Amino acid sequence: MKFTYYGHACFAVESDDMKILFDPFISGNDLAKNIDIEKIEADYILVSHGHGDHVADLAPIAKRTGATVIAAYEVVAWAQKQGVESVHPMNFGSAVFPFGKLHFLPAWHSSTMPDGSAGGNPGGFLLHGLDKKFYYSGDTCLMMDMQLIPRYAKLDFAILPIGGNFTMDVDDAIVAAQFIDCDRIIGVHYDTFGYIKIDQEAAVKKFRTAGRELILPVIGETIEL
Ligand code: NI
Ligand code: MN
Repeated sequence: MKFTYYGHACFAVESDDMKILFDPFISGNDLAKNIDIEKIEADYILVSHGHGDHVADLAPIAKRTGATVIAAYEVVAWAQKQGVESVHPMNFGSAVFPFGKLHFLPAWHSSTMPDGSAGGNPGGFLLHGLDKKFYYSGDTCLMMDMQLIPRYAKLDFAILPIGGNFTMDVDDAIVAAQFIDCDRIIGVHYDTFGYIKIDQEAAVKKFRTAGRELILPVIGETIEL
């Protein structure tokens, strides 16, 4: 599986000729200036919640690519108002897509759309059906519900926020890695703004000391997982 990092909490996975983009926020991120959003392709776009730093580039990319937007009902309703046609609304639970089974699971956070409309409940995603199983928690603090994840799947990797302030910090993400029983964590949601600046080297070391791997891809980098 190919994993491409577009900065902040935006990334794509590609496998079996299927490209899935998550939480498109690029044009408003100074650190992601080198990413050309016109060149991003997607078959599906999964959105964890309605905050601007997760949906800012959703409508243009969805409209250009024709990708199907999968998100909470309220996020989807907002996307439709922006002219997005292909959508699949969800609430917490699971559904089966051409890329396999998908769980949409709770996150402890908030969710309001950029126009002030309701964003539904914030969530995260567990993908079972591609060649690698993975969990993206979305924006959340550490929560006991993460302990359910190993009942659903033995993860190959997970994407967790590590920047603190609005989400888990590095220490909480290490506990989350234990809860979800996953050795390989890709850190997101750090360094973009002043509140979430971290010491990357120290973060990687802390994970290593805890017996786990923290991967911090460079923005624009594609890695094989
Ligand atoms: Ni948020
Ligand atoms: Mn966020």
